Amino acid sequence: MPDPTFFRGRRLRRTSGLRSLVRETRLDPGRLILPLFVEEGEGLRRPVPSLPGVDRTSPDELVRDGEEAVELGLGGVILFGIPGSKDEVGSGAWADDGIVQKGIRALRAACPNLTVITDVCLCEYTDHGHCGVLEEGEVQNDPTLELLARTAVSHARAGAHMVAPSDMMDGRIASIREALDTEGFGHTPVMSYAAKYASAFYGPFRDAADSTPAQGDRRGYQMDPTNSREALREVQADVDQGADAVMVKPALAYLDIIHQVRARFDLPVAAYHVSGEYAAIMAGAQKGWLDEAAAMTEALLSIRRAGADMILTYWARQYARLHREG
Ligand code: PBG
Repeated sequence: MPDPTFFRGRRLRRTSGLRSLVRETRLDPGRLILPLFVEEGEGLRRPVPSLPGVDRTSPDELVRDGEEAVELGLGGVILFGIPGSKDEVGSGAWADDGIVQKGIRALRAACPNLTVITDVCLCEYTDHGHCGVLEEGEVQNDPTLELLARTAVSHARAGAHMVAPSDMMDGRIASIREALDTEGFGHTPVMSYAAKYASAFYGPFRDAADSTPAQGDRRGYQMDPTNSREALREVQADVDQGADAVMVKPALAYLDIIHQVRARFDLPVAAYHVSGEYAAIMAGAQKGWLDEAAAMTEALLSIRRAGADMILTYWARQYARLHREG
């Protein structure tokens, strides 16, 4: 006879009912944010080859995705723009008739119950593909701040419910907060991409958004993947400057960072399950090497278990459908 005091973990795993009762982590679609890519045109829906299931759409088609997000009970969408033309400073980012501004207005008009978040950055709008103003090959921090602030205000003016700066310039949260307050958007929250790493996992996104740097890389402003204490300093800085929510990005390769940020700060924590993390699992599933639904659920639950309140994921719709079917 085995010792009856052994831990008998299997007792509570015997039926699906017992497993459900003792489940520690649940994830409802209301915590998910779906990234959407909008470009100029009409009736356009172009699949992104490296992101199966993700399309670039014109504003009229974007609205269909917005309606679906509401119907599926998603927490919201985050909008990325692909402008018709780019320039040295990325002026398309803050143009009143810019592509994201058009996308926001289309979504707000057609989907009253949709929460619209925007990514605030210059890399999709600069001809060199960097997230700020370039001088002699180096991204200039302080001259970029005003442009980011202008971009955030133009998004708020077009109707964005929340702005999310992803550029990693120092001091941007303070600049954006001040500009929003001055322009009458004191009620608009800022979700900071606070701990954003220079990651290999952004590859498919850069295909989708056409934002690969023409020269160099982003290691001069995004974080070094080897660092974790630095992530806490980055988050602290953004909290001090007035961020309403903070993000860790990517997610799966940085679960330890999500966990530490959750433990240290009491603000809502978001995690971005990024394009390459999604594409890798999708490629495995397409080859028949992985079960997409099971791998998706496990990956998203791990991010939630690590402590994320919100998850940005290209799987938001698939997960919500699966969740609905139970
Ligand atoms: C813009 C931005 C990027 C992502 C989100 N916002 C690209 C980058 O920093 O190069 C990546 C998202 C993803 O990979 O899914 N700065």
